[in-house]
Amino acid sequence: MPPENKRREPEELRSHRWYGVKDLRSFGHRSRTAQMGFDAADYRGKPVIAIVNTWSDINPCHTHFKQRVEDVKRGVWSAGGFPLELPAMSLSEPFQKPTTMLYRNLLAMETEELLRSYPIDGAVLMGGCDKTTPGLLMGASSMDLPSIFLPAGPMLRGHWGGTTLGSGSDTWKYWADLRAGAITEDDWQEIENGIARSPGHCMTMGTASTMTSAVEALGVTLPGAASIPAADSRHAVMGAHTGRRIVEMVWTDVKLSDVCTRTAFRNAIVCVLALGGSTNAIIHLIAMARRLNVELALADFEELARVTPLLANIRPSGKYLMEDFFYAGGLPAMLNNLGDLLDTSACTVNGFTLGENIARAKTFNEDVIRTVNDPIVANNTLAVLRGNLAPDGAVMKPAAAEERLHRHTGPAVVFENYDDMAARIDEPDLDIDENSVIVLRSAGPQGAPGMPEWGQLPIPKKILEKGIRDMVRISDARMSGTSYGACVLHVAPESHVGGPLALVRSGDLIELDVPGRRLELKVTDEELEKRRADWQQPPPKYGRGYGALYLQHITQANEGCDFDFLEAGPPVPEPEIH
Ligand code: FES
Repeated sequence: MPPENKRREPEELRSHRWYGVKDLRSFGHRSRTAQMGFDAADYRGKPVIAIVNTWSDINPCHTHFKQRVEDVKRGVWSAGGFPLELPAMSLSEPFQKPTTMLYRNLLAMETEELLRSYPIDGAVLMGGCDKTTPGLLMGASSMDLPSIFLPAGPMLRGHWGGTTLGSGSDTWKYWADLRAGAITEDDWQEIENGIARSPGHCMTMGTASTMTSAVEALGVTLPGAASIPAADSRHAVMGAHTGRRIVEMVWTDVKLSDVCTRTAFRNAIVCVLALGGSTNAIIHLIAMARRLNVELALADFEELARVTPLLANIRPSGKYLMEDFFYAGGLPAMLNNLGDLLDTSACTVNGFTLGENIARAKTFNEDVIRTVNDPIVANNTLAVLRGNLAPDGAVMKPAAAEERLHRHTGPAVVFENYDDMAARIDEPDLDIDENSVIVLRSAGPQGAPGMPEWGQLPIPKKILEKGIRDMVRISDARMSGTSYGACVLHVAPESHVGGPLALVRSGDLIELDVPGRRLELKVTDEELEKRRADWQQPPPKYGRGYGALYLQHITQANEGCDFDFLEAGPPVPEPEIH
């Protein structure tokens, strides 16, 4: 069982400093709460619960949050708490440019400071669309109040004619088909209208499903919360349960640092691997762990990947979608199937251990949620590569790549940046064939900046027309979890700061050896030193504003891409109330 903390008295609540004392300032707090229509009986001696809501008109994945926040409030009220909705920046994956990753840390800062600067005792964090989950959790971890996460839930399956469509994965697939002439413009239009048809985040195993599930395995949601489709009435019920639970967590002072231990983070990694989850989870989990001073590194992913089977038969690595996963038993069933691979003694926000939460979970469709004896892939769904091209590591999902490319040596075709690639990739006389290795630089945390999801580099049209759908592609970018292919990502250090990727020239041979976990540039050390001496760092893109702050403080992919000043450090003092 998790530690049973002593029950707190109302005078020990953080909000008591705002509401409970008798002075000039507390007069202001109470009179202004009355101005909002509340009587002292609504809040006196009760935990004040922030519902940090990333709803926005421009976030299609969170359209149900306006209603869902009411469900959470219902739960908070019924358990004797005082709910306050605090809107926070919505990171809308399809619309925000240049990339939501540029703003993940800004949401984290906002979340931390919202919780610090207001009379908050505990928080319900409402997110789901890709970076909202880590952003909310990173900020709340730094503040370290009792906090619980309510995942947005996946959207329903997409449809086109008789075909089921998956977010992202099918966009890339049918885009390639359109470019190769395999489908018509009319088909493409119909796909556009059918691929996203309900509230909720992407329903493939993209970053959203990966991160909400990882957070459940970490112990920060109620059991089963991550798999319920947003449109299902059980999602509203889960909202109310979550609101009820946070009130009790405040009384017993169950903080994120009590739940998110190294053991819990390693469980989250096992979960991500068994799901065939997005490589983005590597960056986010490392960043989240560092906020809590928990040691977590690429080596943990590499070690656990060697023994963790892929059990979730979900696209892009598998066949089904999140809606099918829910009907098959959802995440608790998959975690139960993992057996000893998880440390089930880890405590969770509901006061029970992970093992207690999943013990009774059943699998209803063993093709969707496999057993360890019948996995989709036995192990090694993620590979951490090292070599002279990636001294601080690079990552790849071997299961999402054609197997013939797992051992491959070919000549580099280098693009300086995204615009260069977009301008030249389909040129008929580009010197490239299916054995080439496509290299994109200036796509990392500083170089792009924001490390966009450009890592599924396009295959030239003339090669697609030959029926070839995969090639080795290398960049310092990230890749959407819904993407697929032999894409080597997160090369660190990135090219913009002088990583070896900056020194590659077209025609150089590059060797990818997935079984050997190597990524080598076949150029002598002497030649690389000569090239390094001639190398000049491209100028920074931003000279002022948030972008300039970002460029000064962003860390590399293997370190979590947090701001250096936001990682765990000396405690920030509570605000003075004068
Ligand atoms: Fe929001 Fe994919 S667009 S999760």
